[in-house]
Amino acid sequence: MRPIVDSPIPTFVFDDREELARTLADEVEALVTRSQGAVLGLATGSTPIDAYREFARRRRVNGLSFARATTFNLDEFVGLGAEHAQSFRRWTRENLFEHVDFDPARTHFPDADAHDRAAASREYEDAIRAAGGIDLQILGIGRNGHVGFNEPGSDRDSRTRAVELHPWTREDAAKSFGSMEFVPLRAITMGVATILDARRLRVIALGAKKAEIVRQTLRASQSRALPSTWLRGHADVRLYLDLDAASSL
Ligand code: PGA
Repeated sequence: MRPIVDSPIPTFVFDDREELARTLADEVEALVTRSQGAVLGLATGSTPIDAYREFARRRRVNGLSFARATTFNLDEFVGLGAEHAQSFRRWTRENLFEHVDFDPARTHFPDADAHDRAAASREYEDAIRAAGGIDLQILGIGRNGHVGFNEPGSDRDSRTRAVELHPWTREDAAKSFGSMEFVPLRAITMGVATILDARRLRVIALGAKKAEIVRQTLRASQSRALPSTWLRGHADVRLYLDLDAASSL
């Protein structure tokens, strides 16, 4: 692992993705084993999956317990229902919760299927606050600079809300849905300000497809055209990259 010097976000490049996953897992382990437990913000998809596999391995091999931890997922598609194969609720259950011992009563998802999504969004913000805020938020970056589903155009002070998905986001999701026409048009996401409220942000980008947005996240001027630029200036943010994602730096 090597740090990038003079980066506006402390940035670390790993030539081994497993080492990246272990680095994040070390930090999460230290948090969840504190007597007061931890509040984790969870991303989904291929970006965090190695870290989640490492959580599961530590559960199996070392008996690491997540039972005192609380979780809040970042986002969810509108209109799928919790059991849909592509819902983030189901993905998180199958890829994380079934392999570790989180207490289901302490796991939270934005209610994308609520009749009143504005009220559900406010309730999500309230629940995060009532839990004491997020200690560590795990994040990916979309090719278009989205964080969560805060697509281009998202303000620095945005909060949990329903959003329209950007064409690139739907395009990237099309493979897992089988075709673009099955990809939902909308989602609920934590806002940029909700994310920036987390005490630590650990942002992962993997693969050559992310090289350009990683470069822009660090070098472009901060604006809502590139929501990932809002991460700069957070008091405790780190960017973890593999070699390909770092190839344009
Ligand atoms: P991924 O990227 O879909 O490649 O995991 C993260 C994201 O789009 O937020």
